[in-house]
Amino acid sequence: MTESTNQLLKPVTTKINDEGNLSIGGCDLVKLADQYSTPLYVIDEQTLRSVCRDYKNAFASYEKVNMMYASKALCTMATSAIIASEGFGFDTVSGGEIYTVYKAGVDMKKVLFNGNNKSFDELNLAIDLGVGRISVDNFFELSLLDEIAKSKNEIVDVLLRITPGIECHTHEYIQTGHLDSKFGFDLTQIDEAVELILNQYKNINLHGLHAHIGSQIFETKVYHDEIEILVKELARLDEKFGLKLDEINIGGGLGVKYTENDLPPSTFEIADVIIKSLNENVKKYGIQPPTLFIEPGRSIISTSGVTLYTFGSSKQVPKGKKYVAIDGGMSDNPRPSMYQAEYRAQIANKPDAELAQTVTVAGRFCESGDILIKDINLPEIEEGDILCVFNTGAYNYSMASNYNRVQKPQMVLVNNSQSDIIVKRETLDDLIAKDVIPDRLK
Ligand code: LLP
Repeated sequence: MTESTNQLLKPVTTKINDEGNLSIGGCDLVKLADQYSTPLYVIDEQTLRSVCRDYKNAFASYEKVNMMYASKALCTMATSAIIASEGFGFDTVSGGEIYTVYKAGVDMKKVLFNGNNKSFDELNLAIDLGVGRISVDNFFELSLLDEIAKSKNEIVDVLLRITPGIECHTHEYIQTGHLDSKFGFDLTQIDEAVELILNQYKNINLHGLHAHIGSQIFETKVYHDEIEILVKELARLDEKFGLKLDEINIGGGLGVKYTENDLPPSTFEIADVIIKSLNENVKKYGIQPPTLFIEPGRSIISTSGVTLYTFGSSKQVPKGKKYVAIDGGMSDNPRPSMYQAEYRAQIANKPDAELAQTVTVAGRFCESGDILIKDINLPEIEEGDILCVFNTGAYNYSMASNYNRVQKPQMVLVNNSQSDIIVKRETLDDLIAKDVIPDRLK
């Protein structure tokens, strides 16, 4: 089966250049670190486009596919514009994500709004900006949405988010499709929701069902099973209510290669399983082939991103570990401390040097858990060396914080030896911009 970009650990353009430094998108990473300072997020446009094209090619044989990118993985205006230019729509989960893609010029008909507790203001914004689908998560939202839509004299197009009862082997916090989940209608609640839509909520137009089974998934069979559940439900709802639903959204979840131990299936393998399951189950349950929505996040953006850091202090614990500290950590990449996530890295200014020692890369934040990489083999390290951590495109900047009142890093886009800032570094004034001292304290 053809390889795909999500199976790579590093961006497709990663090279060692004539100066002996790592380069991505034709840009020397040491020069980028010098020009923009560190920590620095770098996104390789070619890798990003390559993943989008893998997905499109992989699903080309199924006629009705709506590719959407789950913007929670990384949501910036520039990356949204690139992904939109590859023909993708967007799965959004907040007013902030909806606003970002809107401002990036995305066709809002291709945007879906998802989430387990969308606010009144967010639903209003979604309707006002004309998002194409709202994935309704629960009874409270159904009633709220109908009320808002009625007040605007609008009919809103929705999917119902359901919990298909599938467990996949991924970190507990990133499983979402099993029965005891905060997301979506339980299978036993679907009929009541449908009855409400048919009989009471006249401003809601139901198109289909939506599920998501988890993230960083390596198994393909779970998608097969998920599709069977969704198709079976469409057939059942047709039989019971005469309802011709023609859309299923199977969520995202395809994994990426953070370390050499991760062997994610290719987009082609996943597409193969999904399309086979669809064709098989459509026949088995006797319904017309539905439009398929998929909404991967991590596998679209992760591989295109790396983060650059500068080494500073180090500490050799007597008869213990050697800690080498970088100028970032858990505020720009919370994944190691939240999920024990592992990353691989190289020193950008000496990628070829002999691996001379095992060290632990420590972040600069004030807690012991702020460890970026445990026990990694690296060359001798000098202060000022640049560390390049791979596969940081997804769920790094999007989950970044200002912990310890540290500014979030800036982000540059690289392509064809050119680099452009796509997210500016925060300034100290940005950090206090929203602070207010009440007059009585002055
Ligand atoms: N659709 C829905 C409804 C989702 O909940 C998610 C992710 C996606 C799509 C995209 O899944 P992906 O293709 O990225 O796996 N912060 C965690 C990941 C949380 C994923 C939550 N839902 C992490 O850093 O691993």
